[in-house]
Amino acid sequence: MRNFDEHSITQAVLERVAGAKDERTRFISEALVRHLHDFVREVEPTQAEWGQAIEFLTRIGQLCDDKRQEFILLSDTLGVSMLVDAINHRLPGGATETTVLGPFFVQAAPEMSLGSDISPGLPGEPLIVTGSVRGTDGKPLAGATVDVWHSDGDGYYDVQKVGEDEGLAMRARLRADSEGRFHFWTILPAAYPIPDDGPVGEMLRAQGRHPYRPAHVHFMIAAPGCETLVTHVFVAGDTYLDSDVVFGVKDSLIREFERCSAGVAPDGRQMAEPYAHLHYDFALAPAKSA
Ligand code: BEZ
Ligand code: FE
Repeated sequence: MRNFDEHSITQAVLERVAGAKDERTRFISEALVRHLHDFVREVEPTQAEWGQAIEFLTRIGQLCDDKRQEFILLSDTLGVSMLVDAINHRLPGGATETTVLGPFFVQAAPEMSLGSDISPGLPGEPLIVTGSVRGTDGKPLAGATVDVWHSDGDGYYDVQKVGEDEGLAMRARLRADSEGRFHFWTILPAAYPIPDDGPVGEMLRAQGRHPYRPAHVHFMIAAPGCETLVTHVFVAGDTYLDSDVVFGVKDSLIREFERCSAGVAPDGRQMAEPYAHLHYDFALAPAKSA
């Protein structure tokens, strides 16, 4: 076959990929070709624009290493990460909603005991986080693993400050108690811009968008027999709740970070200064294979 025109070329490529042995590969390849060709026919890029697109994607790849993943950032800012998340988390009623993992999760977070201060010595307004982990059946998930991480009051994560002589902070791995409860101390997080000094930042500016995420605390919660929950709790009233650059906000994940006066905190600690209190009760869906 030869002499393809701007319409017949699509069918020709579809016939070429139809030989894929793996059915899923064939399905994905065919959909990719159909949508990509339709996109190009709709946009009608000039040769120069197509060159710019290739150069943009090339720079995105060149920026990726073990510390920075510009492709994930592209997926996040185009709403694709949240779309994939939604498709993969059609959860039963009562389960805590999910949101993006983000680039600042660290596998080997320091393990800490309940009640620990996970941000010792860091400047910021003290925050106590209390919560519980249950199944959607309401039963406490004793010993659930609770990974938590968040930004500081200036909007920076510990891993963004490497080279400033600061180790891991504002993150920990805790274990819920026999009744599925947990609590820890830290500092209030702030809203922050995602890394916008690369091609994704250029794209946001060209699209007339800001790079901010509303203030939040990340959680990854795992328990045997349950789907691992990846989510955040957002600070009620934040300026960016309705314009999160990665489209990650859900009403059910917004909570008051209650401002409390000096005095006895929920864990019995005597606080000499004002502090904030966040409480969230998490519900994990049963594992899909369970
Ligand atoms: C985050 O919340 O840490 C995050 C998520 C997506 C992109 C950048 C940062
Ligand atoms: Fe974050």
